[in-house]
Amino acid sequence: MARVAKASSRYVCQQCGAIANRWMGRCEACGSWNSLVEESASSAAPGAAAGRPIELAVLAAGSDGAARIAAGIDEFDRVCGGGLVPGSALLIGGDPGIGKSTLLLQVTAGLASRGIACAYVTGEEAIDQVRLRARRLGLAGSPLELAFATGVRDIVATFDVPEPPRIVVIDSIQTMFLDTHDSAPGTVAQVRSSAQELIRVAKRRAIALVLVGHVTKDGQIAGPRVLEHMVDTVLYFEGERGHRFRILRTVKNRFGATDEIGVFDMTDHGLREVANPSALFVGDRDLERSGRAVFAGIEGTRPLLVEIQALTVATTLGTPRRAVVGWDGARLAMVLAVLEARCGLGLGGQDVFLNIAGGLKVREPAADLAVAAALISATGGAAVPSRTAAFGEIGLSGEVRPVGQPEIRIKEAAKLGYHRILAPSGSVSGAADATVTAIAHLEDLIALLGAAGDERMTSLSPS
Ligand code: TYD
Ligand code: MG
Repeated sequence: MARVAKASSRYVCQQCGAIANRWMGRCEACGSWNSLVEESASSAAPGAAAGRPIELAVLAAGSDGAARIAAGIDEFDRVCGGGLVPGSALLIGGDPGIGKSTLLLQVTAGLASRGIACAYVTGEEAIDQVRLRARRLGLAGSPLELAFATGVRDIVATFDVPEPPRIVVIDSIQTMFLDTHDSAPGTVAQVRSSAQELIRVAKRRAIALVLVGHVTKDGQIAGPRVLEHMVDTVLYFEGERGHRFRILRTVKNRFGATDEIGVFDMTDHGLREVANPSALFVGDRDLERSGRAVFAGIEGTRPLLVEIQALTVATTLGTPRRAVVGWDGARLAMVLAVLEARCGLGLGGQDVFLNIAGGLKVREPAADLAVAAALISATGGAAVPSRTAAFGEIGLSGEVRPVGQPEIRIKEAAKLGYHRILAPSGSVSGAADATVTAIAHLEDLIALLGAAGDERMTSLSPS
């Protein structure tokens, strides 16, 4: 290897932030290839003065100015834990084009119209482009302050003043750079140092700082996971490109609950709040169709009904396909294996497709039972009865295990007209108008769905 490290150089992995003192093709820490980039090590300034004593504050003293700034967009405020916190940093990550800039423009322009000073600094779009977008969103009359800038030193100088705006948006952190580093914008060193400088000003001047971060293909905020540790709150904006619905999800929050979600609808006039998402992610409750099941899920503190669709067809390939949209592929493989090993429902010769309707990503293992119901129904042809929802985690022996917050799930299902609930045994109906059918083992589910269409269900038993 011809590349030899200079004394003052170090090599930083752009994926995990690990530091090596020589170049390597593969990062030893995270195993990613070609991710090491040379950066000059910043050493402490020689002859730096001795430290000054720091100021200590008393815990019991009331903190001033901690009042949250509510954006007035409920779906956004709930995800933030009640609004933006002065002197804090919030990171919004998401794929390019998902709607981060649109959302933040709506939030800040709305706040500015209500007399709260906000500044929107973009390093990606020209001011006129932002104006054009604001016009489309019906926000052109807002006194929001705009700037096109990428130099962190200038941005810091602008806001490190006695009366800065209360909210500052930096769109995006990957376009920002500090001239003390010679690495390009978007590299770990630049992103980390730029964020550090901006966060320092935010804390000192009690600004609610919002950083936008693009996410790479593998789901990390581009390069620097480090950023997630530096900020107080991390939100992810997600959704399928072709779908209208967008989910804003709390991944980390020093000031509130995590796993909270906000649901938005991307329209021609920007993002609209969806106050009752359950009605959105399920279709007609009276519809009986094979391969369809409704899952009574929980996202954060909120119950959410989700439609799960399964399709199985005889494979034409040597290895059958398993295609999953919106759920974990490994989890599907497990449910299929349990169905085969414990219930004799062999899908070895079938291509299996599983889809979560509406572009939602479901992460809860509690969806297992509904997935199994959709699969059994898709294979046997018997539809899951109408107005029926399911939840429960499946164990490797085929047993159905209890999951968290059954009462809330049942109540939400009943509220939307799903009066029959398939649930792990022991789940008690919290709603008077819901009947809970206990499913202790997958066999029970097969027996139940079989009863809906005995003849067709015979194809379930291995011949
Ligand atoms: P944008 O906010 O630019 O995404 P990000 O900042 O995350 O990269 O969103 C751009 C997408 O949103 C683009 O595909 C067009 C769409 N869009 C609408 O559908 N309606 C609208 O009113 C706006 C402003 C954008
Ligand atoms: Mg953008």
